[in-house]
Amino acid sequence: MKGLILSGGKGTRLYPLTYTRAKQLIPVANKPVLFRVIEAIRDAGVTEIGIVIGDTGPEIREAVGDGSRFGVAVTFIPQDEPLGLAHAVKISRDFLGDDRFVMFLGDNVIQGGVSRLIEQFADSSWNAQVVLTAVAEPQHYGVAELEADGRIRRLVEKPREPKSNLALVGIYMFDAHVHEACDAIAPSWRGELEITDAIQWLVDHHLAVHPYVHTGWWIDTGKPIDMLDANDHVLEELAHVIEGTVDGDSRVDGRVTVEAGAQIVNSVVRGPAIIGRNSRIVDSYIGPFTSIYHDVVVERAEIEHSIVLEHSEIRGIPGRIADSLIGRNARLARSSVKPVAHKMTLGDHSDIGLL
Ligand code: TTP
Repeated sequence: MKGLILSGGKGTRLYPLTYTRAKQLIPVANKPVLFRVIEAIRDAGVTEIGIVIGDTGPEIREAVGDGSRFGVAVTFIPQDEPLGLAHAVKISRDFLGDDRFVMFLGDNVIQGGVSRLIEQFADSSWNAQVVLTAVAEPQHYGVAELEADGRIRRLVEKPREPKSNLALVGIYMFDAHVHEACDAIAPSWRGELEITDAIQWLVDHHLAVHPYVHTGWWIDTGKPIDMLDANDHVLEELAHVIEGTVDGDSRVDGRVTVEAGAQIVNSVVRGPAIIGRNSRIVDSYIGPFTSIYHDVVVERAEIEHSIVLEHSEIRGIPGRIADSLIGRNARLARSSVKPVAHKMTLGDHSDIGLL
């Protein structure tokens, strides 16, 4: 069994954060989503992993290295353009050979426990296994219609009138028949080779496609609100530890992680929350569901339900910051320079909500 992670694409819905960073490297509870995916595959005993990369390839190569720090061997597979998930399978043919494999979207976060599912497929005679989950708005996803006996009847990509609420989660398992399917299908109306069409081809050719309905949470981190949602779930499940320092004037509750080198000074941190390596929280309040990444300074400020990326500084802000995603090297401070006004230098596609 091999692993294939799709980490190309443009991530337009996460602009401006993804102008300068691969979306799969944005951290959830201080760990890039892509690293969580690599670990999930490794935990199922799969150690040969191919990662499909696009424009942000150099950054992904640098972050992942050869995979040894995760205990896996990584092969990078460049994709010139994001021409679809089935296209990504096609260009990975040399790496995959005729082996069975699990394919993961590099920007999806799923509740633990997928190992068993992968092991089960490795030992089965099924030609494919897809993971489905019930969603509120199926029209935005690849949707599966099942027969009365539970077999898959049809898969439709973003149907206008969905026939079920079961969406395809970004985890798929295949044997070598999928290559025949990817060669046989044509690009969709949006110009992409769709994996749903390839799976439909398998169903139409009477190959065994096993549907597994996942009942835990699953988040496709396409939009900023999805990143915050994923962060909420992961923070809640994290085993919290304090490795940094908390001074006597601070209060930090049991569901808070303080990473090595981080300092909490005269502050209150209410969990679930995580404070990254070498960050300083001074005279501040950090509320539940907040992830502060490494080398951040928060001074005389209040922040909750937010993600703050590395090397940013937040100082002397009146009122509370909430539901926010703050990028790298950002500076938020109260200005003492006249005229008294909101003064900002914002990147393209920034989104600010003032009191
Ligand atoms: P998407 O979320 O469908 O696409 P995207 O990353 O370009 O995002 P946006 O719609 O915001 O522009 O992609 C799902 C995952 O698959 C993501 O990790 C990128 C990856 N991918 C590839 O590697 N190759 C591809 O051809 C496509 C379409 C996606």
